[in-house]
Amino acid sequence: MKTYRLALIPGDGIGSEVTDAAMMVTEAAASRFGFALATESFPWSCEYYLQTGVMMPEDGIETLRDFDAIFLGAVGWPATVPDSVSLHGLLLPIRKAFNQYANIRPHRLLKSVEGPLKADSFDILCIRENTEGEYSGAGGRVHRGNDNEVAVETAVFTRAGVERILRYGFEQAKARRKHLTSVTKSNAQKYSMVFWDEVTNELAAEYPDVTVSHMHIDAMAAKMVMAPHDLDVVVASNLFGDILTDLGAAIQGGLGFAASANINPDRSAPSMFEPVHGSAPDIASKNIANPIAAIWSGAQMLEHLGETEAAAAVLVAIEAVTAQGIGIRPGLNTTDQITAAVLAAMEA
Ligand code: IPM
Ligand code: MN
Repeated sequence: MKTYRLALIPGDGIGSEVTDAAMMVTEAAASRFGFALATESFPWSCEYYLQTGVMMPEDGIETLRDFDAIFLGAVGWPATVPDSVSLHGLLLPIRKAFNQYANIRPHRLLKSVEGPLKADSFDILCIRENTEGEYSGAGGRVHRGNDNEVAVETAVFTRAGVERILRYGFEQAKARRKHLTSVTKSNAQKYSMVFWDEVTNELAAEYPDVTVSHMHIDAMAAKMVMAPHDLDVVVASNLFGDILTDLGAAIQGGLGFAASANINPDRSAPSMFEPVHGSAPDIASKNIANPIAAIWSGAQMLEHLGETEAAAAVLVAIEAVTAQGIGIRPGLNTTDQITAAVLAAMEA
């Protein structure tokens, strides 16, 4: 039987609750579709940091490299470990080390979920650059602690980096409704964003069947609220994509529905799957986190592993559950109830 090696990093807060849910559903998909998962769980988290002084061991990246995929719950517990430590010690280095340059975030309203908008249906695939741009980590602080202290953080856009994310977007658009929206702020930022627009136009010539819209990030924020149904594939830089995908999560009914895949498209290293939401300390250990975002991220993982039918079955099950009115609003059902409903739908 085909067996996939999965590394699980449940992480902090609701991370472990939603990881358990996603793994139960993924296991159910595996037994139904005739493949197996060999999972190994790693305790890397803020708790681990408090015990060891590091978010993951020095050879953590090398340990993960052998796996077929990584599933991550959530990282961060700002009450005890600053986010600047926890995220730069675990999540962000994994994305960069494994060249997971395409962060894929679907924003779609599931059946019966009442989003905050009047729009009845939309299906947006947000593709966020995940390794450079505003998250490059190029910068520094000068005159620390003095009145004349200076902090500089430079957004770095490489031709290779911009071209590969846009190409990924064009390929997705070609396979979907053939429309790509490229998001920049090239009316105000003179170099990186103008460069991004130029690369978009160069690639557009190779994809004559895909129509391209250039949008500025501010207008795009408004459009996602006013006319999300007009959007198909959206490509944005790291920070712009980060912001837009929380907005995408909001319009799809909340962060509890927003899935995400950090993909290394050339498969030279494992990809990582994680819900968009964080560790949510306010609701941790209460069995009320919505596991759908994590379960959906699990489906993205199955898709990436080539288990297309299993992935589709998980999505059908999720939607069957929301169609019954289960999990459609915060506080309506427990994490366990929603997970059990998805498992039951998988069997039906
Ligand atoms: C996300 C998160 C992370 C990001 C944080 C936790 C560093 O907000 O995955 O969207 O900004 O990428
Ligand atoms: Mn975010």
